[in-house]
Amino acid sequence: IKVGPLSGRHVVVTSGPTQEPIDPVRFISNRSSGAQGTAIAAALRDLGARVSFITGPAEVAAPNGVEVIRVETARQMRDAVEAALPADAAVMAAAVADWKVANEADRKMKKDGSGRMPVLEFTENPDILAWVSRSGPDRPRLVVGFAAETDAVVDNATAKRRRKGCDWIVANDVSTGSGTFGGADNTVTLISESGAEAWPRMSKEEVARKLAGRIAEALA
Ligand code: C5P
Repeated sequence: IKVGPLSGRHVVVTSGPTQEPIDPVRFISNRSSGAQGTAIAAALRDLGARVSFITGPAEVAAPNGVEVIRVETARQMRDAVEAALPADAAVMAAAVADWKVANEADRKMKKDGSGRMPVLEFTENPDILAWVSRSGPDRPRLVVGFAAETDAVVDNATAKRRRKGCDWIVANDVSTGSGTFGGADNTVTLISESGAEAWPRMSKEEVARKLAGRIAEALA
């Protein structure tokens, strides 16, 4: 553990996609690479924080010097966050699946020759960010969420901040051509109670360092 402005602080970071099983060999997931969440965990570590890094199956390797908790489903991620609390701050950068398959099969689904197609039914996953934001006496002092938006980025993310009950929302533009998903750069707007602050386009590592610096100021 390094010495820095976040020494003695515990931060929970969620990152990467979740995988929601259809049957023992198939799942539903999304294109999150885990790059931004991983960079944030590393930047918090570099400022001295103890980091619980809760990650779905991501493309990028988890950082060194943090506690890595690997999960697959949203439900497992929620339980891992609960087990990691209390924390001084929580940064929820994971792309959590909104729905899980309600009629998950316990055996591999097979073509039966009848020409009938399987029908998937869905049920809502827990909203981990909304739940942490309202977690009562154990609530982290600072809860940071992300919002991937394609249009009306500031308006939608401002509404999301209220709805979820978190302190900050890092809104990123994921419209076609933004190159955010799987790309090296990110263009974000930091939304807090005091308004919206647009950051210039920068690498995900730079976004992470700047955000970690702000978190350190907020917890100081
Ligand atoms: O509602 P939406 O998915 O756009 O919200 C994004 C934010 O909420 C992200 O911070 C994400 O990590 C978090 N989230 C969550 N649990 C969910 C859905 C989203 O923690 N089930």
